[in-house]
Amino acid sequence: MSQVSESKILKFYRSQTGRKFITGVTGIGLMGFLVVHLAGNLGFFIGGDAVNAYTAKLHSLGPLVLIVEIGLIAIVLFHAILGISIAQEKKRARPEGYALHVSGGAPSRMSPASKSMIWTGIVLLLFIVLHVWQFRFGPHYDTMLPGGVEPVRDMYKVVVDVFADPVWVAIYMGVMVLLGFHLRHGFWSAFQSIGAMSSRLSNTMYAAALVFAVLIALGFFVLPLYLHMVH
Ligand code: HEM
Repeated sequence: MSQVSESKILKFYRSQTGRKFITGVTGIGLMGFLVVHLAGNLGFFIGGDAVNAYTAKLHSLGPLVLIVEIGLIAIVLFHAILGISIAQEKKRARPEGYALHVSGGAPSRMSPASKSMIWTGIVLLLFIVLHVWQFRFGPHYDTMLPGGVEPVRDMYKVVVDVFADPVWVAIYMGVMVLLGFHLRHGFWSAFQSIGAMSSRLSNTMYAAALVFAVLIALGFFVLPLYLHMVH
């Protein structure tokens, strides 16, 4: 790579537009992950065999899973670090904050969700660390799938055991509300930041963001309560 194009990439990365663009692209990637994750979680409404067969199939992909996981960590870190740096820059430019908090409407779309992005984001980051430690690297019990020849990990039991405790149910449900807030602004803002928003599309995308945030957050929100109640 020539020095010229290298410095162009660095310049883009350092510019506010560049950092917003990367935060937007990584945010869209993470929303895609959430859709796939939520679809995978539907297995919990079917039963233990469905969940364990799904996770066993996923982990049988071997190195591919590791590559996706490393990519996911990189995307989360980029998204978080750049998101925090953009928020800090905004704060430096306006240290006292607004005296009066009113909705800005278009085009800034100021709302409680937009003003709390940094805090909901930090809680979500801490949640992801805890969540991955709890489930992905949690206890390992063996179980047999119907007609199976080798034991597989009983992921269903790991999750059901966590949600047997009402404190974990409450923590998860609380975090899912914050996830809903983060997505409510993040969905719209990500498309805005990558330049995929025209003034004609703006209202539609803002409404779509609400629908997306409610569906995803609600999907994750009901599961801990459901598993607590049926076990
Ligand atoms: C009720 C809500 C949720 C449940 C029951 C749940 C369940 C699970 C389970 C069972 C795994 C382990 C999968 C495996 O090892 O094969 C997992 C992994 C993971 N979850 Fe969740 N999840 C929930 C919500 C979320 C949310 C809201 C996020 C993100 C904000 C999230 C992010 C992740 C990540 C990053 C992994 C690691 C993926 C990997 O290592 O491949 N989860 N989740």
